[in-house]
Amino acid sequence: MPQVSITVNGAGHTVDVEGRTLLVELLREKLRLTGTHVGCDTSQCGACVVHINGDSVKSCTILAVQCDGADVTTIEGLAKPDGTLHPMQEAFREYHALQCGFCTPGMVMSAVDLVAKNPQGLSEHEIRDGLEGNLCRCTGYHNIVKAIAAAQDLMHGRVTELARAAE
Ligand code: FES
Ligand code: FES
Repeated sequence: MPQVSITVNGAGHTVDVEGRTLLVELLREKLRLTGTHVGCDTSQCGACVVHINGDSVKSCTILAVQCDGADVTTIEGLAKPDGTLHPMQEAFREYHALQCGFCTPGMVMSAVDLVAKNPQGLSEHEIRDGLEGNLCRCTGYHNIVKAIAAAQDLMHGRVTELARAAE
């Protein structure tokens, strides 16, 4: 059985996997990191998005053996060790950007990568475009976009705290 050495949220793991094991299965079933969700069988929903070496990837679309030596961050690794939320998580909370929460881990991970790679700032249209690989069955897109717009100002130091989401 192949062995995979992988760093997840800063911790090293060496795990025996089958050749057909997907990264999302390794994360959820071997490492018990169940914050990464599985919402489809068709690589469409984005609930499974994690970061691999700094890039957002649907973890149901890549084999675990392809991640040998990789540095992976899941939703569990986004907050600081003292529990301080990442600005994107803070913004999702502040702007009520979730309903059932099933899509939220993937939305947050995709949004963090999208914003990090666009320090010039994204318009509402560009945010919606950037999220086309993430589906929300509760259709709460309006507040998700508002949260990401606010988080990008926080992440890039244009504001130090979130405006109140009292609209
Ligand atoms: Fe990966 Fe839906 S579970 S895209
Ligand atoms: Fe329910 Fe998005 S909040 S699927």
